[in-house]
Amino acid sequence: MGDHFKVKMQSINDYENRPKADNPVKIQDLTLRDGHESLFASRGRTEDMIPIAEMMDEVGFWGVEVWGGATFDTMHRLLNEDPWQRLRTLKRYFKKTPFSMLLRGQNVVGYRNYGDDVAQAFVEKAAENGMDIFRTFDALNDFRNFETVVAAIKDCGKHFQGCICYSLTEPRMGGDVYNLDYYLDKAKDLEKMQADSICIKDTAGLMAPYDAFELIKALKENTDIPIHLHSHFTSGMAPMTHLKAVEAGVDVIDTCMSSYAYRTSHPAVEPLVMSLIGTSRDTGFDMKKLAEINVVLEKEVLPKYKHLLDDSKVSIIDINALLHQIPGGMLSNLVNQLREMDALDRMDEVFAKLPRVRRDLGQIPLVTPTSQIVGTQTVNNVLFDDDDEDYKMITAQVKDLCYGLYGKTAVPISSKLQKKALKGYERGTKPITCRPGEVLEPELEKAKKELKGLTSDLEDIILYALYPVTGKKFLMYKYGKETPPDSLKARTLEDVKKTDEILAKAKAGTLVEKSSKDAPAKGKHTRTFNVFIEDEYFEVSVDELGGQPIITYAQPPVAPAAPAIPPQALAAQRVAALPALRPAPSAAKPSLLKSPEAAPSSKPTAAEGIPLIAPMPGMILSYIKEVGDSVEKGDSVVVLEAMKMENSLPAPASGTIKSTNYKSGDSVSKNDVLCIIG
Ligand code: CO
Repeated sequence: MGDHFKVKMQSINDYENRPKADNPVKIQDLTLRDGHESLFASRGRTEDMIPIAEMMDEVGFWGVEVWGGATFDTMHRLLNEDPWQRLRTLKRYFKKTPFSMLLRGQNVVGYRNYGDDVAQAFVEKAAENGMDIFRTFDALNDFRNFETVVAAIKDCGKHFQGCICYSLTEPRMGGDVYNLDYYLDKAKDLEKMQADSICIKDTAGLMAPYDAFELIKALKENTDIPIHLHSHFTSGMAPMTHLKAVEAGVDVIDTCMSSYAYRTSHPAVEPLVMSLIGTSRDTGFDMKKLAEINVVLEKEVLPKYKHLLDDSKVSIIDINALLHQIPGGMLSNLVNQLREMDALDRMDEVFAKLPRVRRDLGQIPLVTPTSQIVGTQTVNNVLFDDDDEDYKMITAQVKDLCYGLYGKTAVPISSKLQKKALKGYERGTKPITCRPGEVLEPELEKAKKELKGLTSDLEDIILYALYPVTGKKFLMYKYGKETPPDSLKARTLEDVKKTDEILAKAKAGTLVEKSSKDAPAKGKHTRTFNVFIEDEYFEVSVDELGGQPIITYAQPPVAPAAPAIPPQALAAQRVAALPALRPAPSAAKPSLLKSPEAAPSSKPTAAEGIPLIAPMPGMILSYIKEVGDSVEKGDSVVVLEAMKMENSLPAPASGTIKSTNYKSGDSVSKNDVLCIIG
């Protein structure tokens, strides 16, 4: 251990008034951002942060992370909350502790690189609203993507924390990409950029304790900048990793309050505080204060969120993270995506194909958004590729990555894939090598124009520039132009009580209460249907009030007659998923349960032309072609967002767009008919 084993035991007689340690470990709390982002899909509401805010301010945290990452997205999209307002509100309660946020460099708080004007305005507004520490990271560790935001952070006189994303290509640090020299070089680059601190960001909890010791020790020897460790619990190693990092001299460690800790979140603060008491690295925190905060969280806050906890597994450790070095968040996305496609059984194929896709894409670190980019493309490959063709459906984000819009990859991208991805790409077929921000057009003026009449507030404009579709929806609610749906409302403790009562009844077997209403006599128009759901059979009687029932069968779209379907494609298991081909047999069954709503008259029938069918569930971003436009087979017609990735769907045949069935912002299910080409 040598000189770096700096943890010394000191005798303490009086715990309450114990002497300050020589070199206390500083702690940043993540409960209000990464904690609920990791465990509760970022659904934490501001009103549930207020009850603990003043108590948190008294603990002595180095910083509290309250914003950034996915919170900005989730707040406006799913909580109907103005993200900017959260900052101002919390700042009223936190009087001493600095605020920290996660900033995705030129990605800002979104999923693509934005224009320099958006990035700069965002930082200025965040600083103005109370942000102190800007934890800045780039998914590719391409620090050119920091340039714009760092200049703004420095201009605002704020703390620039430069992140290095921790990544591996094998079970331990090393190999030809992510070895010790890689991290030391990156730290030197951040030093040159005048970082106020350096954070090693281990999103997937991949850092093994002894690798942490070696890495932190080397960093401490090679730079004077404070070193901060962010290591998720996912794999179960993080508490050990923390302790070894403390021994190696790490300056700041990230933790959560215990009720927001573990699983895919972070180790809890309390065990660390206790472990270090009476050592030269004692945090100096008061355990009683921490306990008081936990009481509030347990009683008043967590009951509202526990339904969001992934309780599909008893184990709180994800052993897949150890086996496949795949971040926990990415893993749950992959599971969701496959589940929506009825293809959960193909998870092993995804695991098997993922390393190859990652290598093709330049061995990039797997963090947001690159983990999504690699993950979604891998799922697309597993579902849509066949023996004749790889990368049949390339997402827009992979095309952007191949063009260089995300920055420089760790190793070069496969030239074959790059060429294929850039065929017909709107920015050009020759990839760029400059800083991506240089080729991005300014975006604020355009956003301002598009919001004219609704708002001229810069915060609104930035929100809209970052999230045009969902941002617009939120602003319509904010300015009373549309009524937000009930699904965006907060869950109250009353709601929780009601659910718990129902659950208790269900457990006691008393859930089914006898209806107080007597059933009416069966009418003469009653018709009986046999309904089969997998192995179960139901007999359902339907009595249409006031006359003969009209039974409408949902017309299955008929496969195109002219374009020949290659026999091997027909034989492929996932025929349904291919937009140009015939829908799966399950979709072609008359949809008895849904009728008559399933066949609204406004929807075109198959007789009018060839349908473009949604290969996966998602949200319509835009129609590239409108009604009346002529298209060639293979032309992009609709952009569908699925799992936050954009997929342009090609025309299944040449012809004219006869009808489009949805508009931007609409959600669609797999096999929905998006448009008809005739
Ligand atoms: Co994190």
